Amino acid sequence: MKKTLFLTIAIGIMLTSISWVTARYSAEELSIEVMTEPKEVNSTQEESEIAFNKMMDVLTHQRCINCHPSDNVPKQGEDRHPHRFGITRVNSMNATNCNTCHQASNNDYSGVPGAPEWSLAPEKMRWEGLSRIEIAQSMMNPENNGNRTPEDVMHHLTEHELVLWAWEPGVDAEGNPRELPPVPVDEYIEAVKTWIELGAVIPTE
Ligand code: HEC
Ligand code: HEC
Repeated sequence: MKKTLFLTIAIGIMLTSISWVTARYSAEELSIEVMTEPKEVNSTQEESEIAFNKMMDVLTHQRCINCHPSDNVPKQGEDRHPHRFGITRVNSMNATNCNTCHQASNNDYSGVPGAPEWSLAPEKMRWEGLSRIEIAQSMMNPENNGNRTPEDVMHHLTEHELVLWAWEPGVDAEGNPRELPPVPVDEYIEAVKTWIELGAVIPTE
């Protein structure tokens, strides 16, 4: 009686493991088939999307958005609070213009950030509150982007001093270093070039 029970259990275990192995094997086979094929077909598209997302990790960061607001008020700091002293877009033009305080380079004693021609991005270049896709659409649209070709946009994104300032942002008025964008500058520049060279394709949602 004991022997029969033992045998039944042993056979049971054997059968279970065999069916487990078969099930696992076929699942693995299946996933290999499912995963490799589209990967080869879409490798350019995937490369473009990876580059797009890396670029957008930077463009959606406060170091850029603080100067590309959707209202008329520049923002400050990591929490993107409205610029102190009631500064608005109007100050781009009148006597207390941005350059009364903002010089060509950071002032790490007063905490005023600086770069050549420090000013607020024009109304058509408002990015605050937009999705990655909407920012890209606006950035590539000649009606919004200052009539730039994709190549012009690439140069702006990889060479312009207001853009590159984001990786040398200095310290704030309390002396705390400003946060850098989440992607190192070299990797970001490479991502921008890759994305534009692969046709500047904006992914669909
Ligand atoms: C100090 C304010 C300031 C900061 C900081 C800033 N920008 Fe701008 N940005 C501007 C101004 C002003 C213009 C318009 C200049 C022009 O058209 O030549 C502009 C224009 C642009 C344009 C061209 C217009 C378009 O829509 O294609 C791009 C691209 C751009 N900025 C990207 C960035 C990125 C990326 C960052 C952050 C890494 C950044 N900017 C940070 C002020 C700023
Ligand atoms: C009265 C002096 C003054 C004027 C005028 C002024 N700013 Fe500022 N701005 C400051 C100071 C001080 C800071 C630093 C605050 C801090 O970070 O603690 C600052 C910070 C900023 C920042 C924050 C950068 C970041 O990412 O945290 C932006 C953007 C900015 N100013 C844009 C502008 C623009 C655009 C104008 C003109 C429309 C302007 N400012 C006019 C004094 C001024």
